[in-house]
Amino acid sequence: MTLAAAGLAVGAAACGSDTPAVQLSDAAAAGRSLMISSGCAACHGSDGGGGVGPAFVGLFMSDRPLSDGTIVTADRDYLVESIMMPGMKQVEGYSLPMPSNSLTRDEVDLIVGYIVELATSGTTP
Ligand code: HEC
Repeated sequence: MTLAAAGLAVGAAACGSDTPAVQLSDAAAAGRSLMISSGCAACHGSDGGGGVGPAFVGLFMSDRPLSDGTIVTADRDYLVESIMMPGMKQVEGYSLPMPSNSLTRDEVDLIVGYIVELATSGTTP
């Protein structure tokens, strides 16, 4: 009986659908889905690993060198601005400009939450 109970617990813990590279909260998982359905994954990767565009993994609060020679910290405001006004700040080293999109502010916040969690989820004790 105890064995069966332990087996059940292990089964429940291991159960997860479409397991992303890191364990995401429900909100971040929703942000990831939106990021994929909005076409961002084509350039930034379905797990934020990057591609034609920069990686989302480790992006939050990192220093970003811009094409105008300045360096900015990728805080929430920067991420929101990067998505809502892609032409405002250009990350150095990318010849391709990021295309604009028609996401609402709420949708952008959801994706930013995902990007934030990608950078912070690995650092919990
Ligand atoms: C056609 C490819 C492409 C698509 C699609 C695209 N991006 Fe980008 N993105 C880029 C490139 C290239 C850059 C770097 C150049 C720049 O800053 O414009 C960038 C920059 C960014 C940055 C700043 C990253 C950094 O390293 O500082 C964020 C955040 C971002 N994109 C989010 C998104 C989101 C969210 C979507 C979907 C709505 C999206 N991107 C769609 C190509 C793309």
